[in-house]
Amino acid sequence: MQVTLHTLKDVLPTQVLVFVLAKGESITRHIFWKKVRVKDQSYLSLFAKKEFTAEEKECKVAILPSGKKALLIGKGEEKKWNYRKMFLLCRQIMQTAKEAKIGCYALAISDVVSTVTSETVEQIVAQSLIADYDFHIYKKRPQDGWPQVEELSLVVDAVTPELKKAAVMGKIIGEQVNGARDLANIPGGDMTPTLLAEKAREIGEKFGGLVTVLGKKQMEAEGMGAVLGVAKGSVEEPKFIIMEYSGGEQNDKTTVLVGKGVTFDTGGVNLKPDKAMLGMHMDMSGAAAVIHVFAALARMKVKKNIVALIPAVENMPGGSGYRPGDVLKSLSGMTIEIGHTDAEGRVILADALTYAKRFNPEKVFDVATLTGAAMAALGARASAVFSKNQKLIAQLKDAGEASGDFVWEMPLWDEYEEEIKGTVGDVQNVGKFSGKGGAITAAMFLYQFAKKYTWAHIDIAPTMESIEGQYLAKGATGAGCALLIQLLK
Ligand code: BES
Ligand code: MN
Ligand code: ZN
Repeated sequence: MQVTLHTLKDVLPTQVLVFVLAKGESITRHIFWKKVRVKDQSYLSLFAKKEFTAEEKECKVAILPSGKKALLIGKGEEKKWNYRKMFLLCRQIMQTAKEAKIGCYALAISDVVSTVTSETVEQIVAQSLIADYDFHIYKKRPQDGWPQVEELSLVVDAVTPELKKAAVMGKIIGEQVNGARDLANIPGGDMTPTLLAEKAREIGEKFGGLVTVLGKKQMEAEGMGAVLGVAKGSVEEPKFIIMEYSGGEQNDKTTVLVGKGVTFDTGGVNLKPDKAMLGMHMDMSGAAAVIHVFAALARMKVKKNIVALIPAVENMPGGSGYRPGDVLKSLSGMTIEIGHTDAEGRVILADALTYAKRFNPEKVFDVATLTGAAMAALGARASAVFSKNQKLIAQLKDAGEASGDFVWEMPLWDEYEEEIKGTVGDVQNVGKFSGKGGAITAAMFLYQFAKKYTWAHIDIAPTMESIEGQYLAKGATGAGCALLIQLLK
């Protein structure tokens, strides 16, 4: 999809105009009014007949006597309007346009935000792109192709270099979030640790990063007993992916991103029950997010040194699989007592968080579809964040509000450390009080391996999959990707 910026006088007659209206607002005050007033009075008739009352989320494709389409969308009451609703509105417009086979539409930025800034332009572009996304690589292409909006034309008072740049940035964000969704949506039978490593390599080559992939032998030599332990039940070889981008000075500290790369999570011998296993091909969504945060920052030529680390495994209940009660020697030297083979994500992340120390990190972020408990706590509208650093929490929350990739804090208090002490090993991969505070004990487990640097953990299990009413394609959302791009760019 192409994104263009125009002033009102450059809007072409072929473009479908989007009328964003608040309740009670007169259409004659609308910015596009000047364009249609003379030519097509019938826009008015919809209002006159009360066929469109501009309720929030009310959306109509109006076909005028001339045959020309217009898209009418309601904001509801102006005084109840907010920035969060803007994300949904932009997505709804895109999805409606797509369904109505509108190839190109013009949207006035000042209709959806009160101030036209680089940030708002960037977000409108990014949100439109993620709403345009569909995952159809496994489907036969229809004869007339997939419905697609070819051009998003944004109308501003003046086309400035800043706004042009913002549109480009928004495009990068949208494309990379969609890239993360593509990876996460690929079925588990295809998306193996090997394929994930190949995808990371491709991205490294395309955007100027160095990618190193450790295989099983090299991981054994390193002593990554945690990753190797989880991988034992699968015929798929585990991979440890290291991506490096040097946008900063040589002596600058590094930001390390760690992503959970479980390419399919059956639960292991503690097998997941029927429905719980569906969707577990997306258990590498954390990996997908960090790979594409990396790509975005490299494309934006961010002046920072960035490293992405991905432990990639498949969690299978094979005859050679790890068992409850097993003790794994992690890369840190600490031993991990396995209480449950389905709590595999934190185990593989332990080695990656230890490995992160080699880069003398300024900050470390991990992104992981870690716990169903986070989902129970927050529902599907925010990821859970944990950190000992309150400033970082505040920054993450702000980045969430600004990008629409929302997060909410959960506690990481020392008291919880009691709950993950091992009986035989140093730490245990599940909390003592089963079913209680599972997202927190998982975070506390990770913290045992992340004490030497500033760190935040983002549990994206809640937001891994889209829900109805978000105006997103079914499947992976790319959660964590827009959030970290926003924070780090
Ligand atoms: N990958 C799952 C968590 C998950 C569940 C992500 C649903 C997205 C949607 C994780 O590996 C897991 O199985 N966690 C267990 C931990 C438990 C055994 C302590 C969970 O949350 O039930
Ligand atoms: Mn699991
Ligand atoms: Zn998992």
